[in-house]
Amino acid sequence: MPYAFVQSTRLWYEESGNGPSILLIHGFPLDSRIWDDVVPLISHRLKAITLDLRGFGRSDPSGDFTMRQLAFDVAGFLTLQKLAPCCIAGLSMGGYVAQELASERPDLISHMILLDTKSESDDTQGKNKRNDMAKLALEQGSKAVSDAMMPNMLGNRPSPVVVEKLRRIMESQRPETLASACIAMRDRENYLPTLEKLSFPVDIIVGEEDRISSPELMEFIHQKVNYGRMFRIPQAGHLSPMENPQAVASAILKATENL
Ligand code: MLT
Repeated sequence: MPYAFVQSTRLWYEESGNGPSILLIHGFPLDSRIWDDVVPLISHRLKAITLDLRGFGRSDPSGDFTMRQLAFDVAGFLTLQKLAPCCIAGLSMGGYVAQELASERPDLISHMILLDTKSESDDTQGKNKRNDMAKLALEQGSKAVSDAMMPNMLGNRPSPVVVEKLRRIMESQRPETLASACIAMRDRENYLPTLEKLSFPVDIIVGEEDRISSPELMEFIHQKVNYGRMFRIPQAGHLSPMENPQAVASAILKATENL
């Protein structure tokens, strides 16, 4: 299994295909397996790289971290693997990591795709919910986090196969990582001022039934960026790559056709 040693931790990653590189970053409380059905559909034209963020999935356990640290892990990974500048695609929390990277190291990015994510920071109520979720993770474990997240993760008529796989992914995460990620998300910046300044394209992909990062919210982000396209994914909620991988792959291929 390939691991990259970055910023004193080992990150698990996988590469498929040939062509311009695209790094796919997962959300919370997830890992790179959310991209399993998208990668085979894009790797005839792109080199698709998936990685497990620090502490998640097959990456090493980690102590506490911030969003900035996750972004610097990605920066270290891109530099080590000689991938930069390349296309960065991030879903939800992965979108926060991508936007944090864009604010710290825009030189490493040639194109950004934001899937089912937000750009503004949490309000007070949102921050309180992060504290509650961190406590839940530490006191009751990842199954309790999975139970709490599940109702909002998928669209209106989720397939039982996707539900089962999603549960498996969420329940396999380390509670300490989930707690740390909640605090990192609670303390993240407002990325809108960064987005307005970027000189590379920023494309938006959103599940039409996303209840966490709604199409309206993502349309607002689309209006703020200098240029980029917006793709709406039918029959999908927050986890569009798991629920409608064909439509997400087709959007990624269209978004990257000039790379
Ligand atoms: C995610 O999917 O990464 C989370 O829903 C992000 C969030 O809770 O803000």
